[in-house]
Amino acid sequence: MTTPRILDGKSVAAAVLDECRAETAGLKQLGITPGLAVVLVGEDPASKVYVASKARTCAELGFHSLKIELSADTSQEELLQVVRDLNADPAIHGILVQSPPPKHIDEEAVIRAIDPRKDVDGFHPENVAKLVLEDPTGFVPCTPAGCMKLLEVSGIDTSGAEAVVIGRSMIVGKPMALLLVSRKSNATVTIAHSRSKDLAAICRRADILIAAVGRPEMVRADWVKPGAVVIDVGINRVGDATKKSGYRLTGDVAYQEVAPRCAAITPVPGGVGPMTIAMLMKNTLQAARQLA
Ligand code: GUN
Repeated sequence: MTTPRILDGKSVAAAVLDECRAETAGLKQLGITPGLAVVLVGEDPASKVYVASKARTCAELGFHSLKIELSADTSQEELLQVVRDLNADPAIHGILVQSPPPKHIDEEAVIRAIDPRKDVDGFHPENVAKLVLEDPTGFVPCTPAGCMKLLEVSGIDTSGAEAVVIGRSMIVGKPMALLLVSRKSNATVTIAHSRSKDLAAICRRADILIAAVGRPEMVRADWVKPGAVVIDVGINRVGDATKKSGYRLTGDVAYQEVAPRCAAITPVPGGVGPMTIAMLMKNTLQAARQLA
């Protein structure tokens, strides 16, 4: 039992945002105001919180920001037209359609409709290909990019390390694995998922364990190798009658029992969450630079 290092995403994100603020000022002197459009379809309460937070951060940095809130019954064609209009808008450098959309929306088609040069989420097939190719002109999905930045700033050496990513989503798991195995990071990577046999044994091999499944406190103490670095991507709402909101946020990792075994761990909230938004701002600046 040790006291782990708490990887403070809030303070690292604040430092990234300071860099972004300085770069924004420089771009504005050249007559370029970075612009981000965030589109939300429907009423998902968690998505509303994320979208509001993204818009607030844009305002803090001096970005032009557009928040487009569409009703849950918006048609596929209406949404595609919104995306086309944003593609054509020279004041907008980054476009993000908040996921998940309502069930009747074909999310894949919406992502493909976004101009890849404005796809600051990095979800368009062209940017997925650039991630595989390690082409730095592509956009790296914000959450995995934030995890990598947190590891890097914290001085955690990934080279030669055994990394296990739990979760195979296009938003986190797959891009996370690609970043860890890249020539920059040089980790040995396993992608585990809900059908993996003996998930606990796979996780116990990890020097670096990334949990991105969306199941509250799934990763238990005996899943974690002593001295591992644990990155918890989960942001789950669980009912809690003692809270005014009626819920509390918890990660995919059973923090209280796992933390004492780790060398380092991210808290929830205040770990990966703030990093995601900071990397979105960085991606929007990259788009503004590359479109200029
Ligand atoms: N929903 C959860 N995370 C994300 C993200 O990074 N981008 C978008 N567009 N939707 C999300």
